[in-house]
Amino acid sequence: MAAKLVRKCLVLPGLLLLLVVPAFSFPLNRRKSLNEIKEINHKGPYLGLVTVYPPEEKAFLDTGIFKPHKTHRFVDLSGRRFWVGKIHEKKVIYVRCGVGMVNAAAATQQMLDLFDIKGIVHFGIAGNLNDSLSIGDVSIPKQIAHTGLWEWLNPKGKLDPNYVAHLDVASYNVPKGKGSNLLGRIGYSKEEFFSELGKPNAARPLVWAQMSQHWLHLAHNLKKIELEGCVNSSLCLPRKPKLVVGLRGSTANIFVDNAAYRNFLVRTFQASSVDMESSAVVMTSLSNGFPVIVIRGLSDLAGGQPGENAIGIFGSLAALNAAKVVAQFIKALPHDTS
Ligand SMILES: *[C@@H]1O[C@H](CO)[C@@H](O)[C@H](O)[C@H]1NC(C)=O
Ligand SMILES: *[C@@H]1O[C@H](CO)[C@@H](O)[C@H](O)[C@H]1NC(C)=O
Repeated sequence: MAAKLVRKCLVLPGLLLLLVVPAFSFPLNRRKSLNEIKEINHKGPYLGLVTVYPPEEKAFLDTGIFKPHKTHRFVDLSGRRFWVGKIHEKKVIYVRCGVGMVNAAAATQQMLDLFDIKGIVHFGIAGNLNDSLSIGDVSIPKQIAHTGLWEWLNPKGKLDPNYVAHLDVASYNVPKGKGSNLLGRIGYSKEEFFSELGKPNAARPLVWAQMSQHWLHLAHNLKKIELEGCVNSSLCLPRKPKLVVGLRGSTANIFVDNAAYRNFLVRTFQASSVDMESSAVVMTSLSNGFPVIVIRGLSDLAGGQPGENAIGIFGSLAALNAAKVVAQFIKALPHDTS
């Protein structure tokens, strides 16, 4: 009996704690952040910057272009930190979203829902699929597809004509071996694109998400940018890096370091770069009716190289070159327009 009583007494405060603590502490933090955002928005609108992971953020900060706001430096939400400041006298908010399409879409949607935003500039590094381009070059694609919306098919089933493409794994037999395998084939589905400009609650199928034309035009007209060609005093690229505007990019939750799959992406989608976030940021921005541009420095050959993937050696150089283009692009943006 006594033991029961003791247990009751122990359980009760425990229950209270469970009920009280989460109910108050979490919303308080969030409420504080939302109040800060209200104040930050009084001084908007801002350009929204989305980058992905720490090396890209470091390269961006190392350029010194970002001047943090003196009082409202940052606000934390859902575990992400949104920094407030200026680049070339233009107000910006930037966030490091984290790797993959879920993080990219979630952070972009938060940026657009909560802050007074004019448009999204997304930047980072990417794998190079195009043999006419080199590591260190920066690509601003005109369109980008999600090439990871797969259906892994029954090898005996029919191929749905609605697929954008398919990959026959069963007959992939290089070098020649003993015939087909049971992995069968993969069908590439279209995205379901919801848009403020379309009918509510009705998605339309989408393969290529188009970059905003006026921003792409601005990117085409950027003056020659001095891009970095050397990792250090003893390691330089064989060619001077350049900016290329208007190609195609491909995104999936897949890191590609495989020559055969790289070739498939080139042949099937005519894509020049491959990454894990761009299409999510672009699709989310377009759904909400905001202009968007992608700026990605090429860090490696996505498996097209003879030896080790070069991301470890040239990743920081590619990130730096992307940040340099971001700076030039923001400089070239008119002050009042989005
Ligand atoms: C330059 O970078 C390469 C690749 O990271 C490294 O192997 C080499 O030691 C570096 N050289 C100097 C002089 O720092
Ligand atoms: C590869 O890049 C070159 C140089 O920018 C371009 O002319 C070519 O169209 C690109 N290839 C594809 C498949 O887009």
